[in-house]
Amino acid sequence: MCGIVGYVGHRPAAPLIIEALQRLEYRGYDSAGLAILDADGNLAVRKRAGKLEELACSLQGSLPQGNTGVGHTRWATHGRPNDLNAHPHSDCRGEVVVVHNGIIESHHQLKEGLKARGHRFLSETDSEIIAHLMEEALGRGLTLAEALRQAMAVIQGAHAVVAMARSCPGKIVGARVGNAGGLVVGVGQNEAVIASDLPAILPFTRHVVFLNDGEMVEAGPEGVALRSLATGALIERTAVRVPYDPVSVAKGPYKHFMLKEMMEQPEAILDTLRGRVDLESLDLHLEGVDPSLLKGVERVVLVGMGTSLHAAMVGRHYVEQIARLPAEWDNASEFRYRDPILDDRVLVIAVSQSGETADTLAAMVEARRKGARLVAVCNVVGSQATRMADGVVYTRCGLEIGVCSTKTFTASLVALYLLVCALATSRQAIDRQALGQLLLPMARLPYLVGELTKRSHEYEALAHAFAHYQNFLYLGRGIQYPIALEGALKLKEVSYIHAEGYPAGEMKHGPIALIDQNMPVMAIALRDELWDKMRNNMEQVRARDGTIIAVATEGDEEVQQLAHHTLWVPPAPTLLSPILTVIPLQFFAYHIAVRRGCDVDQPRNLAKTVTVE
Ligand code: AGP
Repeated sequence: MCGIVGYVGHRPAAPLIIEALQRLEYRGYDSAGLAILDADGNLAVRKRAGKLEELACSLQGSLPQGNTGVGHTRWATHGRPNDLNAHPHSDCRGEVVVVHNGIIESHHQLKEGLKARGHRFLSETDSEIIAHLMEEALGRGLTLAEALRQAMAVIQGAHAVVAMARSCPGKIVGARVGNAGGLVVGVGQNEAVIASDLPAILPFTRHVVFLNDGEMVEAGPEGVALRSLATGALIERTAVRVPYDPVSVAKGPYKHFMLKEMMEQPEAILDTLRGRVDLESLDLHLEGVDPSLLKGVERVVLVGMGTSLHAAMVGRHYVEQIARLPAEWDNASEFRYRDPILDDRVLVIAVSQSGETADTLAAMVEARRKGARLVAVCNVVGSQATRMADGVVYTRCGLEIGVCSTKTFTASLVALYLLVCALATSRQAIDRQALGQLLLPMARLPYLVGELTKRSHEYEALAHAFAHYQNFLYLGRGIQYPIALEGALKLKEVSYIHAEGYPAGEMKHGPIALIDQNMPVMAIALRDELWDKMRNNMEQVRARDGTIIAVATEGDEEVQQLAHHTLWVPPAPTLLSPILTVIPLQFFAYHIAVRRGCDVDQPRNLAKTVTVE
């Protein structure tokens, strides 16, 4: 997946595009490029492997001049991340320039066909095909918009594209097919910006139009026109105004966004609760979920990917324990291929920080097709998941820039908990008193999480002692099993250490063979109903010379006899305890990664939002 941007208007396009790309870099950062067109049709293309910073440095003092341009930050799918494969791409005559996010499924045949018609390809990418197809269409006398429309009709798959042509200075076009990342159009005074998502646009204008699947846009200083890709017919849609706080994107005093975002968790949790829970009257109000949507639900399916899947896994415990409904979770990338059994009595809850993850969106499409009800738990206002769902519970975390999800995980757990409380209330599985018992402990969560984040130095000291290990095993049971997975995911993502998360009961069925003094075990062993079982696991590890770090309940003396090191968390109701146990695991991963000199905010091979399948 990639970040794409286009600008047309009266300002110098190059600096504006670089600034927009900085805000899109979380989508991919293995190469970057831009193309600038001046009023006389002169085109300059500059692109480079590596991060955007390298491109920006190489352009210092020699920024291409012109008021129309496109830019791209890449996460490679076809072709290695090198200078040639970096976007923008153009046809062999250098007439059309495109930036693309998506995968062209039929690219081999298309490429062969174009080659047979005399086209020469400069890169290994599938994206270049679009430029060649458009160049052919322009050669037949079509307009730029019509050329893009015809090219989009030929390529298969899900895409977002922005393009311009030498023969059409002062014009850019964009199109979106499927769910390979969205396309948003910012409409300013005699200018327009088209980009993959809102953060790239909002510093320039707050008036935006979202492009839906199967739509395209033609933009120039005189305004923007939306059209149907299928028919070319004009679409009427007025721009909406969206709120934005540019200060929140700054790192502030923190060394990394990941650290900043971990520290922001108390506030993110508070904001996710704010206005939704009245702790005096014990009222629960979810503004984005109409109560009728929850009436008559008989089964719940929770889907997501990565960290959001781990939140969904915790969510299943909420549904079963609080609403007493059958519940299951599924990896969104598996869900749609197993022909899931769904109907209008099933509530599908899609968890996604970005609301743009292709697999999660595809799972939602499948759920919609089969008539299920759909609620999104999401952080990004106006994202595709939120527009697709019947109801939304926003996590209100503000922008999460670090590729590694942290504050959006804990806030997603809070949002899921509230949603399930509303579901339980709607089906009268709980009375007012029980609702009060569930909601009251939430008031203390921001404080408890805040106390844990203050122990960053303790986690750092422990992390330094363990930074040289190559393998870790994370164990948890019940509601802590997803936290074991999440702890292991954090460690792998940012430190590149191999880490496995397992349900602790599974340990003796295989992973125990790995345990020795070189394989530290992180055991989440709280004083809850599963404590005895976790004690057995820790004893089994000790008996094999394993080193144990326990995440344990404050005041538990027994755990100190078993574990070599302990990360304490305060006592809390079992259902809320994952929001606490994950905090030391996030910090542990962060400090190990920093110690090992890793690029914490932009780990290798990753992207914040995965908009390809
Ligand atoms: C976790 O740190 C990663 N950022 C990744 O696993 C992420 O949770 C996953 O790609 C899903 O993204 P989403 O929440 O935006 O849908």
